Amino acid sequence: MSNLAHFFIVRQASIALDQAMDFLTTHYEWLKALHVIAVIAWMAGMLYLPRLFVYHAGATKGSELSETFKVMERRLLRLIMNPAMIATFLFGGLIVAANPGYLMVQPWLHAKLLFVLMMAGCHGFFAVCVKKFSKDENTRSAKFYRYMNEVPTLLMIVIVVLVVVKPF
Ligand code: HEM
Repeated sequence: MSNLAHFFIVRQASIALDQAMDFLTTHYEWLKALHVIAVIAWMAGMLYLPRLFVYHAGATKGSELSETFKVMERRLLRLIMNPAMIATFLFGGLIVAANPGYLMVQPWLHAKLLFVLMMAGCHGFFAVCVKKFSKDENTRSAKFYRYMNEVPTLLMIVIVVLVVVKPF
């Protein structure tokens, strides 16, 4: 490739990057709104799914009730929670990309991401539970799921305080 062609490609890439950054900064409030909407949808599922597990754990295996819970759990996970989690990460990442110089060095954001990671781990655990319930292989009690129900609640409280109060 000639030097001129190389210069031209680098220049075009740099212009495209500038335009993308401009787009993100001028639409910053929209990114935040979409992020919060996605968070609400994700959290709705994270709080409701373990509640379904509580009732499902008490239902007789093979009963009509148990089969209904299987459908409810699978749909909630696939149609709401998985897309909402991806959208939360996508818009959260774009917010950071819109203002990396300021955001990437904020300790509250590092702490928040740690708790977000735990939330994603909790999501993964719930996905495994849905699979086990679907094969009638759940061995855990309703009481266990009652406790598990509190984990996303506590994580959510910590995350929201970190991002809104920004204590450090
Ligand atoms: C990869 C995941 C995530 C990233 C990268 C991310 C990043 C961000 C960033 C950079 C902001 C803007 C903060 C500011 O400038 O004030 C923000 C706002 C916010 N985030 Fe996240 N976030 C993520 C996940 C979550 C989760 C899981 C929750 C809740 C459970 C959450 C709740 C919020 C809320 C409520 C706001 C609005 C705060 C405000 O406007 O004052 N985020 N997020």
